[in-house]
Amino acid sequence: MKIYLIGFTLFFIANSVTLQLGSVYQCSCENLLQQADCLSDYCTWDPNGSTCSNKACSSFSKNDCQGVPDPFNCIWNYKTSKCEDFTSCSDYSYKTTEGDYCYELIKCQVDADTIDLTAGTVKCMDRTQESALSIGSCDKIPYSECNWLVTSDGKQCVKNVSAQTCETKTITQCSDYTSIDVCNTNSCYWGDTCKPLSCSILPESSCMLFFSLDAKQVTFCKWDGTKCSDLDTTTLTQTQCLAYTLYSYAWNPDTKKCEICQEPDSSSEFILYGSILLAIMLN
Ligand SMILES: *[C@@H]1O[C@H](CO)[C@@H](O)[C@H](O)[C@H]1NC(C)=O
Ligand SMILES: *[C@@H]1O[C@H](CO)[C@@H](O)[C@H](O)[C@H]1NC(C)=O
Repeated sequence: MKIYLIGFTLFFIANSVTLQLGSVYQCSCENLLQQADCLSDYCTWDPNGSTCSNKACSSFSKNDCQGVPDPFNCIWNYKTSKCEDFTSCSDYSYKTTEGDYCYELIKCQVDADTIDLTAGTVKCMDRTQESALSIGSCDKIPYSECNWLVTSDGKQCVKNVSAQTCETKTITQCSDYTSIDVCNTNSCYWGDTCKPLSCSILPESSCMLFFSLDAKQVTFCKWDGTKCSDLDTTTLTQTQCLAYTLYSYAWNPDTKKCEICQEPDSSSEFILYGSILLAIMLN
């Protein structure tokens, strides 16, 4: 929430929390300044220095490995069934039908140009834009994987259900998805037509977050006991701060506020991304 003091009038602007992907899932144990926040499943508390540090990837189970935020630099190796340090996107290849796994890595996407039909494999590559569904082009995407991937020129891969093909479409609003089969469930919902999601229409079970149409932004929601509303981080307590923001905000004991772990940095590389989020949305 930003508070602007203009003259003697107080205006509250932008109550809801919509973050660029580069700021989502970016907390690390170093951001947890008190023992109460230093989650023992993922972090080690040093009572001498009063510091909290990340545990090594090798200590994590599959779920924890896939659940820890990006700064841990951990990835699940499906071949060895071990949690390992992430190296580089191009070091990883998967079965063609498991290209989704590239998006579980850190700032990676499928490299459709590397589809090897004989071997049945595809490689991963560095993300080319800060979208959770970034893809080079829709041309070689199999029908089954044609789920709202976003190209650098802002178009999307959308299923043509009758022809069973993957088409490149210009999508600017939910109503551009013309049937329930292709209505993008990350950002929209179906009711007569394909309509934009908002926190207020979400049931308790999915009252957490939703994506922008281009999968470059995430809006957080919070169940208040009777309905789902936009999350207001200024109302979060110490124990709610991390979980309600999906490890994007941490408690600052000095200010006694829930504060963002990493501000978006528009001047740095635009390849910024919360990989595990996508895994959560797609599974
Ligand atoms: C804390 O410091 C004491 C004394 O220097 C040392 O014996 C102990 O091992 C330290 N504990 C940790 C967790 O580092
Ligand atoms: C699906 O493909 C067919 C054949 O190419 C085309 O005639 C039709 O308009 C397409 N449908 C949509 C919804 O784009």
